[in-house]
Amino acid sequence: MSFFDNRPIGIFDSGFGGLTVARAMIDLLPREEIIYVGDTARYPYGPRTAEEIGTYSHEIVDHLVTVEGSKMVVVACNTAASFSLEDLRREFDIPILGVIEPGLRAALRATQNGQVGVIGTVGTVASGAYQRAASALSDEIEVHCYACPGFVEFVERGDTGSDQVHVLAERLLEPLVHLGVDTLLLGCTHYPFLARTIADVMGRGVLLISSAEETAFDARTELLDSVAPRDPSIARQHRFLSSGDAQWFAQMGGRLLGPELVVAEHVTFGH
Ligand code: DGL
Repeated sequence: MSFFDNRPIGIFDSGFGGLTVARAMIDLLPREEIIYVGDTARYPYGPRTAEEIGTYSHEIVDHLVTVEGSKMVVVACNTAASFSLEDLRREFDIPILGVIEPGLRAALRATQNGQVGVIGTVGTVASGAYQRAASALSDEIEVHCYACPGFVEFVERGDTGSDQVHVLAERLLEPLVHLGVDTLLLGCTHYPFLARTIADVMGRGVLLISSAEETAFDARTELLDSVAPRDPSIARQHRFLSSGDAQWFAQMGGRLLGPELVVAEHVTFGH
């Protein structure tokens, strides 16, 4: 076996949200090459059925593996991970990483009083994935899961700080403010883009946790344990694919991710 594996790492989400994970991956694994898919033609995933999400996830991972030759895939979408992570792991013989367990691990380390709020899409919360993963991980935390419908749409429109999004956050987070959680896990990869608004509403006593960094650490462990890193002497070129408007993806995505995203390519699924 060669010491290096120069294939890219695939990452996908319904849209811009997974860029929070891509950012952490690029920062922690600067020699690796990323290929990112934002399924913006079919976002939001939150209100979709388990079957639809299973089909979409399969199509995207199949593309990342068979067309793009990824050596590992990160499901940087809580909704997709909630419904299809186990199936994807059975279907594909490369490592497939999720975001739920890493996020919970980080929240478990952070909480002092064991009361952890989790916010996510309607689908993620209804799936019970966080509740199951939390009880498998520890009996020392109690998770309080709330859906935040509408947040994803604001981010996809490029609105991360308007009065409107603030009003919505006040309404959706109100029950959590009164629960006495000391930690709030952002259980949707879009939500870190709303961190300022969410923090304002929750108050200074509540620590916000994103799964992005912990997921990147998992990817690094996996690279060293069961795949192999990229040869650092070989140039790399991250690529960004969108099933929707590629120009908008590059424009808005570049603002959200940073200088690595200048150009996006269009990709089609499901035809
Ligand atoms: N970023 C996705 C998640 O983490 C958002 C899903 C959606 O498109 O509603 O769940």
